[in-house]
Amino acid sequence: MNKKIISIGCDHAAYNLKLKVIQHLKEKGWEVLDVGTDSCDSCDYPVFAQAVCQNIQNGVTELGILICGTGIGMSMAANKHRGIRAAACSDTFSARLTRLHNNANVLCFGERVVGMGLALDLVDNFIETEFEGGKHQKRVDMITAIEEYEAKKA
Ligand code: RB5
Repeated sequence: MNKKIISIGCDHAAYNLKLKVIQHLKEKGWEVLDVGTDSCDSCDYPVFAQAVCQNIQNGVTELGILICGTGIGMSMAANKHRGIRAAACSDTFSARLTRLHNNANVLCFGERVVGMGLALDLVDNFIETEFEGGKHQKRVDMITAIEEYEAKKA
């Protein structure tokens, strides 16, 4: 990464885990842009997915983290945004490989799925791995081409 700055968001189901993740990232020297939510009060996860994705689209951060109950709703919402490749992960191999091969720019996971120790390992694997490029670039470009084709239909 060029700059150690990352955007993070969650819904009510993941507020407590998000606080731990933020603390962990800060201890590792990352600047963290927290887009909310700010409590365990019920809220709608797409709002926070959009805020993290917009930070990436606007070039404020290269990477983002989105946490909800499962990580699934967040990843679905995030992947509706142009240029966003969000991966819902609950194992460290996938969190590493989605950077290496898919050039994922958003990591999603669920507080109701992973414990704190695994969550922090997911984060570490994600932020410490760079995209491998090479043959994988062509495939990522093909994902972008699908995105552009769909945008033209709208
Ligand atoms: C909220 O209850 C829950 O649906 C949400 O956090 C998430 O798991 C959705 O995918």
